[in-house]
Amino acid sequence: MDRGFVGTMPAATDREDEAYLEFVEGIRIFNALSGTSPAAAREWDTTHQPGSAEDLRTMLSGGPPRPVNRRLYRTSQEMMWQGVIETYGKRKDELLAELDRYDRLGPGSVQWDPAFVYPDYFASVEFHIQPGNYHADPLAGYIYHYGTKIFFLSRNDDDQVQRTLVRLSPAPADGLVRRILDLGCSVGQAATAFKERYPEAEVWGIDVGAPMVRYAHKRAVDIGLEVHFKQALAEATGFPDASFDIVHAFILFHEVPLAIGERIVREAHRLLRPGGLFIVEDFPTNIPRRPNTSPRRDDGGEPYADDYVHSDFHGLIRRVFGNVIESYTPKSFLPMRVATK
Ligand SMILES: C[S@@+](CC[C@H](N)C(=O)[O-])C[C@H]1O[C@@H](n2cnc3c(N)ncnc32)[C@H](O)[C@@H]1O
Repeated sequence: MDRGFVGTMPAATDREDEAYLEFVEGIRIFNALSGTSPAAAREWDTTHQPGSAEDLRTMLSGGPPRPVNRRLYRTSQEMMWQGVIETYGKRKDELLAELDRYDRLGPGSVQWDPAFVYPDYFASVEFHIQPGNYHADPLAGYIYHYGTKIFFLSRNDDDQVQRTLVRLSPAPADGLVRRILDLGCSVGQAATAFKERYPEAEVWGIDVGAPMVRYAHKRAVDIGLEVHFKQALAEATGFPDASFDIVHAFILFHEVPLAIGERIVREAHRLLRPGGLFIVEDFPTNIPRRPNTSPRRDDGGEPYADDYVHSDFHGLIRRVFGNVIESYTPKSFLPMRVATK
């Protein structure tokens, strides 16, 4: 049954599924709030035995202890994917037919290749524990979009995150913005936000996952924005040298191995015209590793994030571009790096 849209994403197939997904989101809100309490935030000291009921009460006060918090985080994420896959699965044929139909519709366009060979670093790991990842389930775009709705606790239903980042991002000093490229565009929320900000510009979004660019195109057509999407690797996009004024990437770099990240920075440099801007929002980096500690536990399916946050990403951009400015603004919850070619 078609129940219309929530923001720009197709609603759950029935009210029962929607209620389940709201419940899962509720668990995540509860967990996020309780996770900030001092009792939950500190590492659980498994050697400490409560000496009294009062002691136990103190240990548990303010929220679940850290292991429970982490387990709830992971379990609620598993529930989220299972619920989303189930609800869209009820009308799988209809949604697949919809994708086929939209492939040929405008405004904008989509290019993808059914014979595309996914690189091993991408296809052999699990992102966000999403079954089928970004590529193996043809409905991955729908599924990821609803999953991120829950991840952002319904605060991104109208692309508020990407729209804010795009609004805060600077323009090249000469003001010329004719072509924009969003790398790792997922469902195309930054790409459409760029088109809204620069209506005259030709906007492209690329992503390695075919289901992502197909859904991104469908979403842009529904919104009525002319954006072009292409299945491509960010490290080898196939676009000509100096063909973009802005190259942008939001939370892409923590999801690729460091060596691929370096290739993507070099590709962005190649693609920009002199004076063009490379704009990256992602996790903070350059965080020193504490000696003799094991890597951060990965409960949420971020296989490359630990390497990334400890890497000298800032230095990498500076080496390739010769400059980089890092800014933290209160409204963008992640650091923004801007480099000029
Ligand atoms: C966390 S999502 C990015 C979110 C997105 N930028 C947004 O605005 O919501 C990471 C995306 O990068 C894509 N990706 C991962 N490695 C890639 C690569 N080497 N080239 C292109 N896309 C890649 C994934 O398929 C996924 O859609």
